[in-house]
Amino acid sequence: MSKYRKKIIAGNWKMNKSVREAQDLTDGIIRELAGYRETDIVLCPPFTSLKVVGDLLVDTYIKLGAQNMHWEPSGAYTGEVSPNMLRDLFCHYVILGHSERRAYFNETDKIVNTKVKAAISTHLVPIMCVGETKAERESGQAKDIVRRQIEEGLRDVEGDLKTMIVAYEPVWAIGTGLTATPDIAQEMHAHIREILAKTKGEATAQSIRIQYGGSVKPENAAELFKQPDIDGGLIGGASLEARAFAKIVEAAV
Ligand code: 13P
Repeated sequence: MSKYRKKIIAGNWKMNKSVREAQDLTDGIIRELAGYRETDIVLCPPFTSLKVVGDLLVDTYIKLGAQNMHWEPSGAYTGEVSPNMLRDLFCHYVILGHSERRAYFNETDKIVNTKVKAAISTHLVPIMCVGETKAERESGQAKDIVRRQIEEGLRDVEGDLKTMIVAYEPVWAIGTGLTATPDIAQEMHAHIREILAKTKGEATAQSIRIQYGGSVKPENAAELFKQPDIDGGLIGGASLEARAFAKIVEAAV
């Protein structure tokens, strides 16, 4: 069974851009992609720029996303931001379980699972990130690691998962210039869809969009996005420049 899945390109700005720079970048992206409707487009600035970027995106086709969140709606969690606060700023999407959060902030599969549940119950679309490290790939464990991340991340998640996004981001490809070849990426994406089919049913697996992330650039985007199970990209470095980001979006038809 195969089903049409609209491609989705998201820019993960990570910890980059002042408020002013975020406005300029957003203006540039809006200009570059004015009237473009062929793919879904999401910008994920740091928390400090969500409001200004969101204001600029009103009346455009581009949606707003956050890079992380806490799972509780409010409370004594100094320094954290809740799902409700993100909704309040008109975020549609939230990146969860990015490998940088897992590596530097001790986010476990259990935490990611709790956040996915909180996102869905707050009507935020989770972009749940999975991916193996270089050592895990070299020791032949890549598929098992990704299976565990998917199974645990989505354990007991209720409700309609068809609109959620999974992002496959091999850690060895992030910010390194080492992109996974289209074949390597496709193989893992097909594996992910198989796990989703087994755990959540075929119809859900065919609807969930699986993004690839890791050194996607205008030069390699089209080949990656041509693969049958690659439904778009989660873009780091190349999303910080309007023209480069627009070219990647345009490569995803
Ligand atoms: P780069 O595109 O900079 O490799 O980053 C990928 C990423 O981590 C997106 O979430």
